[in-house]
Amino acid sequence: MRSNLYKLFIVIVCCFSSGNLFAQKFEELAQTPPMGWNSWNIFQTHINEQMLRDMVDAYVSSGMRDAGYTYFVLDDGWMAMQRDSNGSLVADPKKFPSGMKAFADYVHSKGLKFGIYNCAGTQTCAGYPGTHGYEYQDARLYASWGVDYLKYDWCNTDSINARDAYLTMSRAIRAAGRPMIFSLCEWGNHAPWLWAKNVGQLWRTTADIHAGFDKDQNYGTWSSYSVMHILDLQDHIRQYAGPGHWNDPDMLEVGNGMTYAEDKAHFSLWCMLAAPLISGNDLRKMSPQTTSILINKEVIAVDQDPLGIECFKYYSFDGMEIFVKALKDNSLAVCFLNRSSRQQNINFDWKEHMITDTLSKLNIDFNKNTYTLRDLWAKKNIGTTNKPLKQTIGSHEVLMLKLSKVN
Ligand code: GLA
Repeated sequence: MRSNLYKLFIVIVCCFSSGNLFAQKFEELAQTPPMGWNSWNIFQTHINEQMLRDMVDAYVSSGMRDAGYTYFVLDDGWMAMQRDSNGSLVADPKKFPSGMKAFADYVHSKGLKFGIYNCAGTQTCAGYPGTHGYEYQDARLYASWGVDYLKYDWCNTDSINARDAYLTMSRAIRAAGRPMIFSLCEWGNHAPWLWAKNVGQLWRTTADIHAGFDKDQNYGTWSSYSVMHILDLQDHIRQYAGPGHWNDPDMLEVGNGMTYAEDKAHFSLWCMLAAPLISGNDLRKMSPQTTSILINKEVIAVDQDPLGIECFKYYSFDGMEIFVKALKDNSLAVCFLNRSSRQQNINFDWKEHMITDTLSKLNIDFNKNTYTLRDLWAKKNIGTTNKPLKQTIGSHEVLMLKLSKVN
């Protein structure tokens, strides 16, 4: 009896110490939402080593790295069409003549981290070899290349169970021994926010984004979503995100064709959502406006706030919406969004509003406490909550404020 109990004790200790029983993923990797760049939104599969090296250089010279962006992620299209005779994935030798290890070394040499893409199905969405059945082998290969981040897609998965597939890959990464952020990309089809907290660090919540403010793009059998459509799908899942496990409303489209106002609104709202900030534009050709959006440190700080609490919609009327996000030190971010096609004047008397939120335990009465107001895009202080806020907000524009409590 005693020796059986002893054996049970050893089994439990082993399971816990290998981390395999409950928490598969590497902890502590994404205490704030991951920040980086990904090749898909602007290049799809049209990537190659030289242009990516130039992109890495631009990542650094543009100030992105200094603003907090860390990961450089290759999306679909980096592989050869076939595995080799050992069943290993191979980088496309035409696109990557120096091989993937050399490219990863280049990324690391610039003080960045390296990410790569594959898919839980038999093939990736663009038809390259998928990982199904090769999970441990692929994870070992990525670890040997120095991969720090894996985005794992969901095409060609007809008979595959999503939870099992993502859990298997999470365990494979763990077994390969190199800490990697694991980014689940099954488009929210199986409500990953309910089960993926211990599986990966982020999970996509919707179908793909495109660079449109409020109109989806229809491709016949599927649609990509506008920024506003994706925003509207986030409200009911905010309670599932937090340090180490994030809702991912997809990568950024800043600099990919929307207007300056729309790009600012998109970026502001993703920061209000505590979303991963994965830029998806051509870093070699950024306009000064695009750069100024992506590296606005005060707006990024709202995204990266250590509390990790997503915003909620406080108010919505006639195309005007107000989002509120609790920040550390009893501060708040408040974002006024004008979704309408006309300019709107706001006259917002703080003292007429009580802001309460169970999730972030906010209970604010502006008659009892005063807050200073800082406009995070104009980068200036604009008074306090003691006076009504009067501003004009253009169509598709935001006014993003940080409120700091006056003691
Ligand atoms: C899916 C993903 C995209 C991208 C492509 C690559 O559509 O959602 O983000 O990775 O596949 O083929």
